[in-house]
Amino acid sequence: MDKYSRGKATTASEVATLTLPDAKVELPIRIGTENERSVDISELRSESGYITLDEGYGNTGACSSEICFIDGEQGILRYRGYPIEQLAENSRFTEVAWLLISGELPTQSQAADFSALLTEYELLHEGLRHHFEGFPPDAHPMAMLSTMINAASCYHPDLLELTDDDHLMEAAAKLMSKVRTIAAFSYRKSKGQPIVYPDPALSYCRNFLHMMFSIPYAQYEASPTMVRALTLFLLLHAEHEQNCSTSTVRMVGSSGANLFASVAAAVCALWGPLHGGANVEVMRMLEQIQDSGASVREIVDRAKSGDSFRLMGFGHRVYKNFDPRALILKKAADDLFSEMGKADPLLQIAEELEEIALNDEYFIERKLYPNVDFYSGIILRAMGIPRNMFTVMFAIGRMPGWIAHWREQFHAADRIHRPRQLYIGPTKRDYVPMDQRR
Ligand code: SDX
Repeated sequence: MDKYSRGKATTASEVATLTLPDAKVELPIRIGTENERSVDISELRSESGYITLDEGYGNTGACSSEICFIDGEQGILRYRGYPIEQLAENSRFTEVAWLLISGELPTQSQAADFSALLTEYELLHEGLRHHFEGFPPDAHPMAMLSTMINAASCYHPDLLELTDDDHLMEAAAKLMSKVRTIAAFSYRKSKGQPIVYPDPALSYCRNFLHMMFSIPYAQYEASPTMVRALTLFLLLHAEHEQNCSTSTVRMVGSSGANLFASVAAAVCALWGPLHGGANVEVMRMLEQIQDSGASVREIVDRAKSGDSFRLMGFGHRVYKNFDPRALILKKAADDLFSEMGKADPLLQIAEELEEIALNDEYFIERKLYPNVDFYSGIILRAMGIPRNMFTVMFAIGRMPGWIAHWREQFHAADRIHRPRQLYIGPTKRDYVPMDQRR
């Protein structure tokens, strides 16, 4: 049974015919459950000697997947078929994590069991906790996160060889719970403050805020609005199909590398300013506008000028319409500030920037809209989370999506990912002894 009959893709009756200078190749057309159409080129090289070339993979499907559907033209995002708007309205982050990883919304008992596992695994081994002493005070939290994920696997060798789904769910709970503790400990270390241990009586989000902001003898009491804002932030960042970091999980996992190693690699991919690091760059851009007194119009014009400056938080490889997550986060930011009874000048600058860009021909022509990173930093800043922790927060949110894709590939037993290339280097030449080189 080939994977297309196993999964939910169908094979069209018609085929794609590729006419080459010296061959004509017929290629199957595979159709997904949302009627996305693809040309299956798996046999192209063996039948024609040709490969395809697609720098940045803008036109290339690396796999078939049941986890997340995006329609970039319509601005649609669904996790396992559920619209992101409904999940944002009704769901908790841990409930969405279960949905992404298992494929179904959890029953009451499954949700309770998963919650219990997250609580059971919230502590770090004391030996692991001492690793923090080795980092310099200004160590970047993303470097610490990636390091500590692999270090954590040294204390859980049993999770390096996952045998079945129960074992995988245990590893998922350990990863999700411990990255939250690692992130909070990294923050406390960077502030020179004593670490605060997790409180088993608190929910996933409340516990994180407790570990971040409680001080000895003064427990931090997060407001319902803060907890709601954090829940939304994490839930909206939980999954986004084959983005750079998730593709990294699948690439690394395809070699048989364990879940911890694959996720640690994804943290490194997410760190880049064009990906998960964009939320930091958005805040830097907004603060530069505020501090320089430059008009928003000047910034928009600079982004159009063709130099390397870009409007951070704008544009997306897939969305050519509004990123639905940006719309939800913008409302959450408004709610947060009205509850806090204060206006944020950076939010006002962001809204003015959005207004001008969305009416500017350059952005309209290129279909550049605010993406998930445009408002997310403003929410994190309002919660008191420092800028160098923003991408770590993105990683905590994306953990369930990374785990879900690793699991999907683990069950599919996909071939090792090994793309081809078009060689454009020097043709054959002979060795030149050192004394004859000029
Ligand atoms: C995330 O893939 C995902 O799903 C990612 C993510 C997830 O959930 O995992 O959604 C999270 O990474 C969101 C994106 C965060 N990055 C940023 O906000 C950085 C700023 N945006 C860009 O750098 C850019 O839009 C990308 C990287 C997001 C997408 O780049 P593409 O698809 O490769 O687009 P491109 O570079 O080919 O740009 C096409 C045109 C170019 O102009 P021309 O050469 O046609 O004249 O649009 C221009 C670009 O110069 N352009 C921008 C722009 N983004 C693209 N111009 C000004 N400002 C921008 N932000």
